[in-house]
Amino acid sequence: MTLLDSMPTDCVVSAWNEWDRLREMVVGTAVGANYEPTEPGSRPQRRGGREGNPFPTGPKPQHVIDQANEELQGLVQLLQDWDVVVRRPSPVDFSTQLVSPDFSVENQYCAVCPRDVLITVGSEIIEAPMSRRARFFEYLPYRDIVRGYWKQDQNVRWTAAPKPSMHDRMYRQEFWEWPLVERHKRMHDFEFCVTQEEVLFDAADASRFGNDIIIQESMTTNRAGIEWLRRHLQDRGIRVHAVHFPLDLFPSHIDCTFVPLRPGLILTNPERPILEGEDKLFLDSGWKLVDAPQPSLTNDQMPEFCQSSKWLSMNVLSLSPDVVICEENEHELHELLSREGLEVLTIPFRGVYEFGGSLHCATWDVRREGKGEDLLGISS
Ligand code: ARG
Repeated sequence: MTLLDSMPTDCVVSAWNEWDRLREMVVGTAVGANYEPTEPGSRPQRRGGREGNPFPTGPKPQHVIDQANEELQGLVQLLQDWDVVVRRPSPVDFSTQLVSPDFSVENQYCAVCPRDVLITVGSEIIEAPMSRRARFFEYLPYRDIVRGYWKQDQNVRWTAAPKPSMHDRMYRQEFWEWPLVERHKRMHDFEFCVTQEEVLFDAADASRFGNDIIIQESMTTNRAGIEWLRRHLQDRGIRVHAVHFPLDLFPSHIDCTFVPLRPGLILTNPERPILEGEDKLFLDSGWKLVDAPQPSLTNDQMPEFCQSSKWLSMNVLSLSPDVVICEENEHELHELLSREGLEVLTIPFRGVYEFGGSLHCATWDVRREGKGEDLLGISS
């Protein structure tokens, strides 16, 4: 019997991949959401030719919050209809200023995207260090929930990765000034707005494939962050692989770029192919990479204050290896996924877009059936 076989699979916290039958999940809330502030790790911009005007600050308008909450509630209802236990974050006032010994920021952000903050790896919950000042305390709305699981089941492990200083020195501010040609020239350097000094990652840069986890280098995850996760998980036979998508010049969070749907099938972004050679990890073990169709909106048609790209279209949420939830307008994607043999459920979700994500981002899976397996043809 290996160490992995001896790990409990009936633990209240247990999730090994992105697709096994979902049993329990946290869905974000737009209550208290603020506009993301301008800070060294983020330069929010309006879309559609209105880039010149200043980006708003402070709380988001109530009707925008209400719209997002209605759609989030629709997701909660759908999940409950499928017998998934759903929990919601505690309300937090995101309009407060933060002052630490090393930085200050005028307001915080929101609790719409738990995916960015937390990741379940087997029976362990890991709180990411995060990479932006406004998101430093974003674990707080989830702490009641996490503490609850930890108390309920002694097999639950709970880890907070080291918090970074978020000092000016942690960032590479020139990044924001580089013209596109310059970024293109440097696309194989994988250097973005954060330096390599401190341990940084957002949970949403990682994607779980049983005993293998892939994680992209990005504006929100650096090499030290990947190394921290690798060392943290290696004793349990979980392997961490860095992956890269050179054509994404502003990468953050892997779930609009490379989305596994079931063993053997990954939805890929045709504008952001994986670095040459890194595809071997999947192809050699028989996985199929299928490009997503063009999204229903262009980048310019995305909501004015949305900082994500049109590829939120492929930010789908798996209920099981056979059933996937998609945004209702993405008809071409629905057809593609149906052709691949998946049952496609659809709900409206565009009102959530300007809060940083779609269906996968706005959720954090706590329990899925199944256990850790070697799915990429590697075994320790
Ligand atoms: N940077 C991604 C894109 O624009 C958006 C990722 C959103 N994902 C998330 N977990 N918040 O394509």
